[in-house]
Amino acid sequence: MYQRMPNGIQIVEVGPRDGFQNVKDFIATEDKISIISSLIEAGINSVELTSFVSPKAIPQLADAQAVCRAILEKYGDTINASALVPNLKGALGAKEAGIREIACVISVSEAHNKANVNRTHEESLVELGRMLEALPDMKVRVDLATTFACPFAGWVEQEAVMRLAAEVTKMGIQDIVLCDTIGVATPDRVFNTSALMKKAFPSVNFALHLHDTRGMGLVNTIAGLQAGITSFETSIGGLGGCPFAPGAAGNTATEDVVNMFTDMNIQTGIDLEKLLGATGLVAEKVKAPLTGHMFKAKIYDCFAQR
Ligand code: COA
Ligand code: ZN
Repeated sequence: MYQRMPNGIQIVEVGPRDGFQNVKDFIATEDKISIISSLIEAGINSVELTSFVSPKAIPQLADAQAVCRAILEKYGDTINASALVPNLKGALGAKEAGIREIACVISVSEAHNKANVNRTHEESLVELGRMLEALPDMKVRVDLATTFACPFAGWVEQEAVMRLAAEVTKMGIQDIVLCDTIGVATPDRVFNTSALMKKAFPSVNFALHLHDTRGMGLVNTIAGLQAGITSFETSIGGLGGCPFAPGAAGNTATEDVVNMFTDMNIQTGIDLEKLLGATGLVAEKVKAPLTGHMFKAKIYDCFAQR
């Protein structure tokens, strides 16, 4: 059925960053810590803990230092903990909190880059260079926001994605996340762009960050898998959305992706039952609607074994 069926894939949980950033009511720091802990206890080993951004831009994540310190103290080297940063100030803040991997966000669309981080491409690339120079031991991945479409400028040309990827790889970046920031891509777009990027940059590790705005999250995940992508950023409960991208809904829900891959015999290392427990904690502590399917679906005991 599939051209390439891997034995396992990597899930990167971004709910504590992409999910929480879009929640208006402040989530208590201790609740953030217990939700992240429950995700890790369910088997998630890669998690984007928060953002080191201006608290004026994202008030919800003003407790980034405290969240990172608590999680790193508890789980340390047993997990891959990362944080999103838009500039050197954020990268230095992440380092101070003990973070060893940052996701530097640059939008392929200039219009969205300006709305999101108030910078042109050139300015963002200069900032990336400053981070790499100041923090040579930090692992830096680049999130290419609006890889497929921009809320202001419409569909994004593949050439623009290629150009920006070429710029960052020239600077030594080895990890790139292709982000459907507003969730409008369809499987052919995801397959074509993913396949093109993998062919053009064979030594780069690509991941997909998909939003489920139009219900395309899972099919787009499979389209990416067929193009050879094996790392997916997802969010618990389907929380998520960029406050600077009007109309963006949540990410593909982690529990939906885990359910799908588990039944396909593709390992995620995550225990679905425990993960649904973590979703329950999110439902209890976070004042936002959960849009994932599995949390609402009846769980049939007779399907427990494949
Ligand atoms: N962490 C905390 N505060 C920061 C910061 C960071 N990484 N970067 C800048 N600031 C503070 C500055 O100290 C300054 O504070 P002040 O007003 O009290 O003096 C203020 O933010 C403005 O700084 P400036 O460098 O002029 O930034 P800006 O106004 O051009 O905004 C960003 C640029 C990147 C800081 C801002 O747009 C931002 O944080 N965006 C977040 C985007 C985001 O998270 N999007 C969703 C995820 S993709
Ligand atoms: Zn996102």
